[in-house]
Amino acid sequence: MIEKSLQDRIYQLKGWLTHDEINFLYDFASRVLAGQVIVEIGSWEGKSTIATALGSKAGNQARVIAIDPHTGSQEHHDLWGKVDTFTNFQNNLATFGVTDTVEPLVMTSAAAVEHVGNNIGLLFIDGSHTFSDVMQDLRLWAPKVVDGGIIALHDSWHFSPVQLASALHLISASDAAQPHLVDTITYWYKVPDQGLKDKAGNLVFVLKRLLTGKQGFDRLPKTQS
Ligand SMILES: C[S@@+](CC[C@H](N)C(=O)[O-])C[C@H]1O[C@@H](n2cnc3c(N)ncnc32)[C@H](O)[C@@H]1O
Repeated sequence: MIEKSLQDRIYQLKGWLTHDEINFLYDFASRVLAGQVIVEIGSWEGKSTIATALGSKAGNQARVIAIDPHTGSQEHHDLWGKVDTFTNFQNNLATFGVTDTVEPLVMTSAAAVEHVGNNIGLLFIDGSHTFSDVMQDLRLWAPKVVDGGIIALHDSWHFSPVQLASALHLISASDAAQPHLVDTITYWYKVPDQGLKDKAGNLVFVLKRLLTGKQGFDRLPKTQS
């Protein structure tokens, strides 16, 4: 469990994670085994990267591969025009003492896929939020997650393209089970032996998330720019 003062310091960084989402990333990163890797798609200035890297350091020192071209997504260009987050990303990592734990790949997730093996213990997807890009991230990256590993998507119910892509994956995949929600993060386990109960559970989760939205899960993300 992350210390409250550390959680608060991470929360102060620019980004979009809530306190509970920081806690989730820290906790689940700490459980990733040595020899496995943590992959993050979409780092921005490093808020989620730092939460996972500190968790990993407190756990088994799994390497964090942080993939981002550092040029922002369409919604950022609409707000701010040209974007370059790499310098602030590097400075933030240094401030939190996690530079040695993180391997940045400054490229798109599609370009990065050939640089990473099939030993991902935790996959956190928070890159481009278009429907086709999220579908592509799931198609390219989910097969690289180990059995028992975790796949997590940020902005999973209030961004409709991410909601739809994750719903389609959960309903159609033959190796996804036990989906949960932590604020806006939907996560599930990759399993070798998905049963009928898992399939039904995935469908119920997707319908509940769709129909009841934030009321059903009693959460509103605390966004921060
Ligand atoms: C919502 S931000 C990530 C926020 C970050 N996870 C945090 O906690 O602060 C989305 C990021 O995805 C990156 N991005 C956009 N398209 C991408 C792609 N095709 N592959 C990887 N990253 C991408 C953008 O540059 C941007 O930094």
